[in-house]
Amino acid sequence: MSNAAPWFDVLATDDLPNDDVIGIQVAGKDIALYTVGEDVFATDNLCTHGNARLCDGFLDGHEIECPLHQGKFDVRDGRPACDPVTEPLRTYPVRIEGSRVFLQIG
Ligand code: FES
Repeated sequence: MSNAAPWFDVLATDDLPNDDVIGIQVAGKDIALYTVGEDVFATDNLCTHGNARLCDGFLDGHEIECPLHQGKFDVRDGRPACDPVTEPLRTYPVRIEGSRVFLQIG
């Protein structure tokens, strides 16, 4: 028996944004889903600095800018990329299978 976290079928690839971010609800979590070129990344949607949703922010390359105080995170690993954010975002593995997007959420 495996203890691996389950994968969730969250979206059709046709519904992915184009070099942008969207917010989705998965397994009771608020998740931000990003596309950068052909790559897809997922993080918690709530900024670690305050009560702001990153899906309302601005994606520039691999960096998401929070809409509230303009802190930035790297969406690839969740690390803070600019003040005032200091705590990393949680990230989630993403897998594309056929025309569906799956997230692993434990
Ligand atoms: Fe996101 Fe302050 S709430 S930078």
